[in-house]
Amino acid sequence: MLVVNDIGKERLHQIAGVSPEIEVMDASHLWVAPDPFIPERKEDSRNPEFNALLAETEVIFGLRFPQNLVKRAPKLRWIQGQGTGVKHVLTDEVVKSRVTVTNISTLRATPMSELTFGLIMMLAKQAPFLFRNQQGKKWQRFSHIMLQSKTLGVVGLGRIGKGVARLAHAFGMRVIATRRSAPRVTRHRYVDKILKKELLPELLAESDFVVLSIPDIPETYKLIGERELKAMKPTAYLINVARGSAMDEEALIRALEEHWIAGAALDVYAKEPLPSDSRLWELPNVIISPHVGGEMENALGKTTEFFCENLRRYINGQKLRDIVNKRKGY
Ligand SMILES: NC(=O)c1ccc[n+]([C@@H]2O[C@H](COP(=O)([O-])OP(=O)(O)OC[C@H]3O[C@@H](n4cnc5c(N)ncnc54)[C@H](OP(=O)(O)O)[C@@H]3O)[C@@H](O)[C@H]2O)c1
Repeated sequence: MLVVNDIGKERLHQIAGVSPEIEVMDASHLWVAPDPFIPERKEDSRNPEFNALLAETEVIFGLRFPQNLVKRAPKLRWIQGQGTGVKHVLTDEVVKSRVTVTNISTLRATPMSELTFGLIMMLAKQAPFLFRNQQGKKWQRFSHIMLQSKTLGVVGLGRIGKGVARLAHAFGMRVIATRRSAPRVTRHRYVDKILKKELLPELLAESDFVVLSIPDIPETYKLIGERELKAMKPTAYLINVARGSAMDEEALIRALEEHWIAGAALDVYAKEPLPSDSRLWELPNVIISPHVGGEMENALGKTTEFFCENLRRYINGQKLRDIVNKRKGY
């Protein structure tokens, strides 16, 4: 199995320790991986040593992957990604191939849900207002929003959506949600009403807080635009922790400037890092988080442990955890 990014010697040993059947190859020093945050950094994988390792690879573990992977690694059976989003992994050749793709959605769901609910709390309790006043040494009393009995709308009731629903339920919120596949049940343990995705306008009109936790697939591109923002209550807040592509960011900025909605908390943006000239930085009713929703302490250690568990399953012929549906794209 091949590791394509630098995870450190200890973790390489940890992986090798899963079974004597495994030969771990470290290729992190043999290529320059592409980086979506640095567009000018292109993949460089001309190194013949790297290509020789790829030719022997059955399992690959990494964050970013080499181009034409299936062609260059004819023995490849399984790609384990170190994130949740898999858009960059699901190239045409990977989708058409028999290669299994897994991600770490289960692992990321808890920190994601906690950050998302933390952002809801910060919006409800007027954290930006408090921090601004503290900096100006200003004593100004205010009334904050009580979450109990408010409605949370979750767009995309997957692992993250369900995690946020559970926390909201504990606060006495009413939770409604949409998902892609036609819901077989109309309720879930922590969700009062599950709607078909076509009923998004209903969810938007009823919610006091709207959370986007949908995958980045063509169908969700700019799912929330001017019409959807205008369908929300003027007192409602939007929290986007999914991907920048889920929102029409220009429409969101107008919605915030012109008070179609009360505010927003964002972890993801159309362009990342968020450009310094983005109007979002200046808006008083916005909380900016730098795409850290899935982060946690010792993230790489936990990710490696997750992979080792999947590797044990692979060797024992058991079903892997967090298999991506390649046709659906998540
Ligand atoms: N900010 C970050 O750092 C960060 C970290 C992790 C993940 N994310 C993003 O969050 C996304 C969700 O993660 P997850 O682990 O919760 O994924 P997941 O478990 O695969 O859930 C995705 C959910 O979205 C639903 N969905 C798909 N298309 C939809 C549509 N058009 N309308 C309504 N619902 C729709 C799916 O419905 P079905 O159940 O019917 O299929 C599913 O319930 C990821 O794809 C990733 O882009 C961001």
